[in-house]
Amino acid sequence: MSPDARSRLVPEFALEACSLKKTYPGSKKREPKQALKGVDLKVRTGSIFGLLGPNGAGKSTFINIFAGLVKKTEGEAKIWGMNIDTHPRQARAAIGIVPQEINMDVFFTPYETLELIAGFYGVPKSERRSDEILAAVGLTDKRNAYVRGLSGGMKRRLLVAKALVHNPPILVLDEPTAGVDIELRRQMWEYVVELNKRGTTIVLTTHYLEEAQELCDDIAIIDQGQVVACEPKDELLKRVDRKTLVIEPVVPLSEVPAGFEDFDAEIRDGALAITYRFGHASVAHMIERFNASGARIQDLRTEEANLEDVFLSLTYNRANAG
Ligand SMILES: Nc1ncnc2c1ncn2[C@@H]1O[C@H](COP(=O)(O)OP(=O)(O)OP(=O)(O)O)[C@@H](O)[C@H]1O
Ligand SMILES: [Mg+2]
Repeated sequence: MSPDARSRLVPEFALEACSLKKTYPGSKKREPKQALKGVDLKVRTGSIFGLLGPNGAGKSTFINIFAGLVKKTEGEAKIWGMNIDTHPRQARAAIGIVPQEINMDVFFTPYETLELIAGFYGVPKSERRSDEILAAVGLTDKRNAYVRGLSGGMKRRLLVAKALVHNPPILVLDEPTAGVDIELRRQMWEYVVELNKRGTTIVLTTHYLEEAQELCDDIAIIDQGQVVACEPKDELLKRVDRKTLVIEPVVPLSEVPAGFEDFDAEIRDGALAITYRFGHASVAHMIERFNASGARIQDLRTEEANLEDVFLSLTYNRANAG
């Protein structure tokens, strides 16, 4: 295949949103709600993309527009290079969505559920992977159980399995690990990473910022229907240009020692924590001062900013600014 033909098959962006807006209509009792206020986002093909934001930010609305579950008010959306208005069927065939809300037919077994969906998408019997998918989400031993008898976490895993049946190049997961225990969360993410290595583009929302920090290549933060940041994770983390030096003394301290009046210093569990901007303070100088105070050092460590700091600084400041 020529490189040209290949690049036509694999678009640069798996998902594209251009000035996407959504207003939910009001009713007698409720004002209309503008959930998306003109969102521009591009998800690079092959990436793991994290969509983060506080409750009610508009994440599910955004995802559900791509899923065909919510009708956009304005703007343009493309899946795998295909416009959802002009090529709805082809566009939807390229995406698998794991919705936030659990809704499923409880009268079938997990295996039957997957086979039904495969039939619905026209996946030939020889290409079906129902058992492989059930194994990947840890439901092999529930293969023939009734769905109504599954626990909440198991139902959520079955939702992931359902989204994978037609082997889509894009998998979108809206809070897939809410209510799933730690061990299974780890297992599910391992499988998601494995799918990504095999070429699937992943878009996920999660309130577990540590997971997003570990997994995602690119991160968008959305707040009150607007994108407040969208960049590679490493760039985003650099935004909070802050480090903390924690000095553990041999004898726990009860107050900040003399000599640290000019520093942003506080006592945490008997240790001295000094926060500074990278390149604006010398650690050697801090240690000298500490020694000069007469206290003795037991241990030292530094803490870097994490995604939670970035998230809070971007969303919390906005909330307080009005
Ligand atoms: N069907 C609906 N009718 C009216 N308003 C809605 C509807 N669905 C969502 N909203 C409102 O739109 C806004 C965005 O909701 P959305 O579910 O997209 O947020 P979210 O970022 O997914 O939040 P969460 O983290 O809680 O899942 C909220 O103010 C919500 O109340
Ligand atoms: Mg949501």
